Amino acid sequence: MQVRRCAVVFVEPRERLDFDLARLVSGGTGVETVLEWIALAAHLDDELLLCADEMQALGTMSPEKWVDLDSIADPAHLRVLQGLLGKGLLISDAGAQGDVRRRDEDVRASHWRGISAALHRHTRWRGIDTLEAEQRFGRESDRPFLDRLGAPEAPVRERVEPGRRIALGKAADSGLEALIRQRVTCRNWDTTRPLSTEDFATTLYRTFGARATSDEPGITVMKRAVPSAGGLHPTEAYLLVQNVEGVRPGLYHYHPIDHALEPLAEVAPEDSEALALRLVAGQRHFMKAHVVIVLASRFRRTFWKYRNHAKAYRAVILDAGHLSQTLYLAAAERGLAAFITAAVNERDIEEIFGLDPMLEGVLAVSGFGWRGEFVDEVEFDPLGSVWPNGGGMKKVE
Ligand SMILES: Cc1cc2nc3c(=O)[nH]c(=O)nc-3n(C[C@H](O)[C@H](O)[C@H](O)COP(=O)(O)O)c2cc1C
Repeated sequence: MQVRRCAVVFVEPRERLDFDLARLVSGGTGVETVLEWIALAAHLDDELLLCADEMQALGTMSPEKWVDLDSIADPAHLRVLQGLLGKGLLISDAGAQGDVRRRDEDVRASHWRGISAALHRHTRWRGIDTLEAEQRFGRESDRPFLDRLGAPEAPVRERVEPGRRIALGKAADSGLEALIRQRVTCRNWDTTRPLSTEDFATTLYRTFGARATSDEPGITVMKRAVPSAGGLHPTEAYLLVQNVEGVRPGLYHYHPIDHALEPLAEVAPEDSEALALRLVAGQRHFMKAHVVIVLASRFRRTFWKYRNHAKAYRAVILDAGHLSQTLYLAAAERGLAAFITAAVNERDIEEIFGLDPMLEGVLAVSGFGWRGEFVDEVEFDPLGSVWPNGGGMKKVE
């Protein structure tokens, strides 16, 4: 059998605290510091504990050149290599590793920069409930936030004395300024008022729709409302439609060139909010949004040009940011409200929409709809643009 190292693996020397009741009973604190090697591979979801021999052996294996295991004379070394094979860090040509080899091939074929690939794979959540985490944080101590964390960084980095600042004229009011004032992240939804088909379609078009396409032989690029590295627009919009006139509740993909919905699965209305809650990691204030949108990047589209590139992953994340802000403004123009969150269960979303994390990775979840009449969940509206009481925040003069 031939083996080689997987395409991308980073090893982190990690220190953790280990609690043992027996040590406590025998007179100590019960807590011991444990040092360990943790392997983070771009094709595997699990973090893997390595022994020192495995760590050493990993460094002797090429990710390109295949080695015949029968040619390894030292039985101890062979056992270590077989251990690495069992963990999926060595790839075999024999096909007995489930889909480990296919996943490694996908990483290779996608032109990921190694460190970006490991970062993306190992920062995804499954089944996280942020509400539960917040409650636990609250239970751990009743000291106020400021006491526990200390003061945050100042809101502005001031580089010169106030007297040396060159005052700039106020910007005149404009349509854009009015929209910007209306942009308040929404956490309260009016579920009694469905979104009209026109509001739904227009907001999607403004944000994600292609205004035009241009073709060089073999390369089609879109003109969208937002800029995109290389003009490649890798970000896809996957929708959970909950409350839109004329659109059955369910999962859809938005086709930006045809400006059309691609139906993926129906969702029973009674199951929809629980599904939304899974996407947004238990954030109840987003689960009733009329439309929930997963922003997922088809990495190969951007990495086709920016191969193994130090900036490419940053570029696709920026893409999602541009789309989110455009969604906020497009919604505001129609009197609607929007949100974005990075606290999302990527691994659940991949399962729900059938996405491979290294080929079409989830970057954020946003959404839009009608804002509700009452503030149950706090919104940040110091200008009083959408709530008459303004939330009591100080206005910047
Ligand atoms: C990258 C990013 C992640 C965010 N994640 C969350 C989140 O997890 N939960 C949430 O309620 N709001 C989230 N927000 C919204 C911010 O809390 C919000 O923008 C901030 O409170 C300022 O309010 P404003 O958007 O109304 O100006 C996020 C915003 C951004 C840009």
